[in-house]
Amino acid sequence: MDAVLPFTVDLPPGTTFGAVVTGIDLREPTPGQLMALLDLWHERAVLVFPGQHLTDAEQIAFSAHFGRFERGLRQASDSKLAVLSNVGRDGEVVAPTELQARFLVGNTYWHADSSYKRVGAKASLLSARVVPTTGGETEWADMRAGYDALAPDMKERLEGAVAVHSYAFSHSWHGGQEMLGASDLAHLGPVEHPVVYTHPATGRRNLYVGRHASHLVGEDVEVSRILLALLAEEACQPPRVWAHRWERGDLAMWDNRCVLHRGHRWPDDQARTMVRTTLAGDDPTNEWVLPES
Ligand code: OGA
Ligand code: MN
Repeated sequence: MDAVLPFTVDLPPGTTFGAVVTGIDLREPTPGQLMALLDLWHERAVLVFPGQHLTDAEQIAFSAHFGRFERGLRQASDSKLAVLSNVGRDGEVVAPTELQARFLVGNTYWHADSSYKRVGAKASLLSARVVPTTGGETEWADMRAGYDALAPDMKERLEGAVAVHSYAFSHSWHGGQEMLGASDLAHLGPVEHPVVYTHPATGRRNLYVGRHASHLVGEDVEVSRILLALLAEEACQPPRVWAHRWERGDLAMWDNRCVLHRGHRWPDDQARTMVRTTLAGDDPTNEWVLPES
């Protein structure tokens, strides 16, 4: 890391990526800080900012420095915020059998946000509002290092390989289908993404896999499904993984194009509330971009 940065950076030991950034107020970043943050984010792929305590509006304002917002799962909603919480409208923790809780379980499997959309999400910014006393960490995996670690013949095998990513495939077992009506589901048909992605900012190659990836185009469904699972399994191993134990007020920002993430489970009877803003992939024809408001 360069010596002179307009904030303080601590690199997690023993990992290939990630950074903890302090000495910055995300409510009032200077232009110099924003430029340096973008560079650092491209290099380290996940940034954690402890103790920022942003309001919803402040989180939206900070996120907006890095791109355009992505529409969520419901076409009728223009919300820039997604609330991931097991607290019901009555303020009580919902039972683990309820759809609101079951839906969250999907996040405990390695994934890239919105890879089931034609253009996957660029960035996700997640802040902790209510944290459990134990568990509930978020963990990331560096898919650039995951690609680099592949054997040469596997790299060759994956050259030109295209995966089908599907919301129905990844969400049917834990309530994702029940969550949406027919018209929203109709916007979430299967899509295709190359298995090897070249990052537009860094030129580095990485694996683009995870739980929404169902199988490979033009290959045996079951066999290629197993291959995709093995690729993710092997890539998501030390030193390519990093978990953050949340404190209320922390914010993390990650690059869905080149990292996978998952949430760790926590006791079912404890509250956990996280708020996410999601930035859309930069494709100029991306139909998931929210109109400017
Ligand atoms: C997400 C997600 C995991 C978590 O916000 O996209 O997968 O730890 N979160 O809540
Ligand atoms: Mn996610």
